[in-house]
Parts: sequence; C-alpha cells; structure tokens
Amino acid sequence: MATVVVGTQWGDEGKGKFVDILAQHMDYVVRYQGGHNAGHTVVVDRQRFALQLLPSGILYPHITPVIGNGMVIDPLVLMEEIEMLGSKGISCQKLKISGNAHLILPYHPELDAAIERNLGKNRLGTTKRGIGPAYADKALRVGLRMQDLLDEDIFREKLDLALQHKNLLFTQIYKRAPYSLSEICDRYLKRCKTYLAPYIGDTVTLLHEALESGKRLLFEGAQATFLDLDHGTYPFVTSSNCTAGGASTGSGVGPRAMQSIVGIAKAYITRVGSGPFPTELSDAIADHLVEKGHEYGTNTKRRRRCGWFDTVMLRYAARVNSLTELVITKLDVLGDLAELKVCVAYQIDGRKMRQLPYHQSAMHRAVPLYHTLPGWQRSLGDIKERRDLPSQAVDYVEFLEEEVGIPISWVGIGPEREQTIKWNTPTHAIP
Ligand code: GDP
Ligand code: IMO
Ligand code: MG
Repeated sequence: MATVVVGTQWGDEGKGKFVDILAQHMDYVVRYQGGHNAGHTVVVDRQRFALQLLPSGILYPHITPVIGNGMVIDPLVLMEEIEMLGSKGISCQKLKISGNAHLILPYHPELDAAIERNLGKNRLGTTKRGIGPAYADKALRVGLRMQDLLDEDIFREKLDLALQHKNLLFTQIYKRAPYSLSEICDRYLKRCKTYLAPYIGDTVTLLHEALESGKRLLFEGAQATFLDLDHGTYPFVTSSNCTAGGASTGSGVGPRAMQSIVGIAKAYITRVGSGPFPTELSDAIADHLVEKGHEYGTNTKRRRRCGWFDTVMLRYAARVNSLTELVITKLDVLGDLAELKVCVAYQIDGRKMRQLPYHQSAMHRAVPLYHTLPGWQRSLGDIKERRDLPSQAVDYVEFLEEEVGIPISWVGIGPEREQTIKWNTPTHAIP
C-alpha cells in the first residue's frame, strides 16, 4: 500500500508536518524529487527540525527513510543534515539512498546563480542551490550519480568529461577560473565516499520487496503542483515533477501502487520567487499573514508572498495529481481577520473561468473573482475537535471542500503534531 503527499500550491504548505503525522502509520518514507531547495519543518514538543534532503518521517525509529532516484543531492549538505540529526539524538542508520540519484557538484550552484544574474529582472528567484543545472545535466546525460561516488575511476572519468564543457563555459563566457578535477575528486571521493557508501544501494528492489511483504510506503513530495516543471507556471517553476506522477518515476514504484494521494493546501496561499499569483495581496493583510504565519523561507529566509485561497488552482491540482483527499493547514493564521476571501473563478478577457487557463499569459492577466466569508476572530491553537471550532471556521473549510470537490481529511491549527483536527471524512491513508 502506498500513499503520496503532494503540495497543491507553490510550496511550503506544511507537507513536512503531515508526512511526520502520517509516518506514525507507515514503514517507509520516500523522497522522490527535488533536492535541498526543499525545507520541510517538523515540530515535536517545541523542538523544530528543518529537513532539506532527508524524509520527514526520519524522526520515528520504526521508519526506513529512502532517498529515491529522482532526487538531486549535494552530498556535503546531506552529510551535514545527517550530522545535525545525530547531534539531536536522531539516528539515520536505516537510511537508503538510490545509486541512481544525481549529484549536485560545486559548479551547479554557481551556474544557477550565473543564469539568474543573466536573466536580470526576469530572474526566477531560484534557491540558488544548483537544482536546475543538476537536472539539466541529468537530461543532457552528463550528470554524475550517487553510485559514481563508489568507484573512483568512474567518478574521475565522468567528472573529467563534464568539466571539459563546464570549464569552457566558466572561462570563456563567465570569465572565471576553471574548476580543478583533482580538487573536486579529493573533496568528494575521500570523505563522501567513506561516509555515504553504507547508505547507497538499490532502492527499487528495496521498495518492491517492502510492498510485497505488506509494508506501507509514504511518498513525500517536495515543492508543489504549481512549481512542477510540466504542470506549473513555467518558467517560474522548479526543474522536477513535483506532482503525484513524479512519485513513480522518482522511485521506481509504478502508479498502480499509489492508493491514496493526499494534497496539502494552506488555508491561504504563499509563494517565494517570481511568477504569476492571481490572488496575491500587497496590503496590510499580506503583512499580517506574513507575521502571524511566520511566512519566511525555511532555508532561504526569504519573505513569502501571500494571497487568498484560490479554488481554481486547487481544482487543477486535484486533477493533475488525482487527489483522493485534501489537508488544509494553517487555518489558525486566519484567526484575526474580520472577513476572508476565497477565489472561486478567474475573469480573463471578460470571460469567467472556473478551470485554470492553459495559456501562461492568461494566468498573468487573470482577475480573481471572490466569495467573501466572515472571519471568526478567535485563536484556534488549543482546539482538539471539529465540534469546538467556531462556526465561521467550519463554514470556511466546508466552503473550500465544496468548491474544490475533494474530501478534506485533516485541518492544521498550529505547527505541533497535536494541533491537527480530524475532519468529517476518514482519511484513506490511515487504516
Ligand atoms: P513544507 O515545505 O510544505 O514542508 O512547509 P514548510 O515547513 O516550509 O512551511 C510550513 C510552516 O508552517 C512550518 O513552519 C510549519 O511548522 C508551519 N505549520 C505547518 N502546519 C501549520 C499549521 O496548521 N498552523 C501553523 N500556524 N503553522 C503550521
Ligand atoms: P518546499 O518543498 C517553496 C521555488 C523557488 C523558485 C523556484 C525555482 O519546502 O515546499 P529552484 O531552486 O527549485 O530552481 O527554484 O521554486 N521553490 C520553492 N518554493 N517551497 C519549496 O520547497 C521550493 N523549492 C523551490 O523559490 O521560485
Ligand atoms: Mg518548505
């Protein structure tokens, strides 16, 4: 049995918190795309863990954490993260990393930054972690993979080939010093090889044997539907498939195994980086959401853009991910507002559209049409049951459920595990 968790907006919906909650009932948690552009927060007893590469289920000793083939990994960052968890008493001993996952090497973040500089005011606002260049090298078939760390000769040979082209770019176009083959080899082969070798292996066989023996798998999406390379607001996207299909290609477990697809949506919307955002606010309400919701990047600390909930986007996310259920997070953050708006359709060139326009420029011109609901103006943080919520909060969530057409299984009212309310539909993901 496999469950997939995906972001349904532009990221930072609270995927980490829900993966951690669902992981109580799982055996394996698998990351399948992205890299350390992700920042997934788990808060347990007021202790905050910000995970970038390791699956959020890693805090439970019963979980086998897996890094799938679809990820791009900076091995130095991975080792730091393993050390960071070790210093907090969390063991990564059971971690398994696909030998087919691609490596982020020092020239990738540098290229990322150079491309952004060249784009000037049209820059994407990437995390500058080298994600795009590493996936580009994978597609160009000049990337190095985790398994190459295990064989010094192959690593050196492949890196030499890659550097011949990269160094031409750096010296001729970007006018900087070339990268040294021996320096990178020294740095990566010595420490990374010894440190990471025990974790690297065949995760496809591992996951299939787990499924065959009745184990439960949880796939943890990073980024989100509207940052998906194919289905997002291109070019203002990341370079991987963050939608549910990515769980299959990024792990080697086919789509038939995925029984539940859980979409995570914030009760409002945030976005970091550039790109269209029809319901974006630039007034005092935006400032309020940023402060109350602590809307600053988990890793990059950038201020997140904020706006009203958009059901046009969610209907699209429901389709492209085949969502079976929806989780609404951060309802508590709306607690001080007198009234709340929800976008139910776009007006584009005089036409009302309830479904997402296929053309990117229409998305830039979309004027949101809102339905207004009363706020509840109360704090929700200590509420345990749905029946104790203010009626306006219940009405707000029910309105979202009806407009999106996907059953809501949980509602988040705070960052802690316990600050989670079971909604009326029993979740498919938990027995
Ligand atoms: P992810 O990238 O989707 O895992 O989300 P992030 O961890 O980047 O950002 C979500 C932030 O919201 C984190 O700081 C979480 O601790 C926090 N969070 C998650 N759910 C809730 C919630 O229901 N209410 C509040 N107030 N905070 C939440
Ligand atoms: P989680 O998993 C929010 C955004 C960047 C930028 C675009 C491309 O925590 O939800 P990239 O470095 O990936 O090439 O940047 O994608 N972005 C995210 N925004 N949450 C994330 O991850 C993100 N990962 C990338 O801000 O706009
Ligand atoms: Mg995040």
